[in-house]
Amino acid sequence: MHASSPLQLAVIGNPVAHSRSPQIHCAFGAQLGIAVDYRKVLAEPGQFARCVDALRARGARGCNVTIPFKQDAFGYCDVASERAARAGAVNTLIFDDAACRGDNTDGVGLLRDLADNLGLPIAGKRILVLGAGGAARGILGPLLSSGPQLVHVANRTASRATSLIAGFAAAGRLAGSGLQDLPEAPFDLIINATAASLDGSFSPLPSTLLRAGGAVYDLVYAEAPTPFLKWGERAGAALAADGLGMLVEQAGESFYLWTGQRPRTREVLNGLRRAAPRRSN
Ligand code: ATR
Repeated sequence: MHASSPLQLAVIGNPVAHSRSPQIHCAFGAQLGIAVDYRKVLAEPGQFARCVDALRARGARGCNVTIPFKQDAFGYCDVASERAARAGAVNTLIFDDAACRGDNTDGVGLLRDLADNLGLPIAGKRILVLGAGGAARGILGPLLSSGPQLVHVANRTASRATSLIAGFAAAGRLAGSGLQDLPEAPFDLIINATAASLDGSFSPLPSTLLRAGGAVYDLVYAEAPTPFLKWGERAGAALAADGLGMLVEQAGESFYLWTGQRPRTREVLNGLRRAAPRRSN
């Protein structure tokens, strides 16, 4: 690549119009003196591979992949990292000369946001994960490897929770159930990995599920607190966080995979929060 030609990157998804990834990666580039051309690519169902091929043909370094194509991306790449293979999903493609590598930075993004930005380490904690779809699958391995006392996966459809946990070897530290069948002892941290926040349809849970002074975290980011976060606040959470920090941290790890350089993610996160402070309603 010529020294002055920008690093070509993109995010592929559907929908993709509201993605903040271009802004985040351009901010990383500005920090590190790397010119970045980061585009949003709307792919129609069945067109994922064709869109990636086109990016490669025009010399892109890689791309991010978002809903609903993370499993397609796992199938597309020539080599998948261990964490991508465990998640069965890829959110970052890296285009090397001949091959395409796939990785998944979502889990590490969540852990960094929890530990570094929010001061919430996982070790020794009782954690409840709501949801058993792709988003939950992506964070389960990284959460378990951080030494929690327990991760309980609860899902509207109980059988999906049971089959999700069956794929992870974490005897005694991992359990699963339906939403109606939750343990009595409260959790230190409840993470919403369901798609309910996307359509604003969260059904409240018993407030006794959250330890007094515990934390709630929604993987989704939104301008106003999601119904899940509002529930958490009513249930006595000392901290209620949306997924903007995770978004920035997963992006930082993707940027590192493409460039070998680590951006100062906290600075970019603070900038985003200043630009669009969350409303308090
Ligand atoms: P993603 O990749 O975003 O995880 P997914 O694989 O379609 O998407 O999974 C969506 C998750 O959100 C599932 O756990 C789903 O529960 P079911 O398995 O019972 O379908 C959950 N979900 C979606 N809408 C929900 C709602 N209104 N209330 C509770 N859970 C919901």
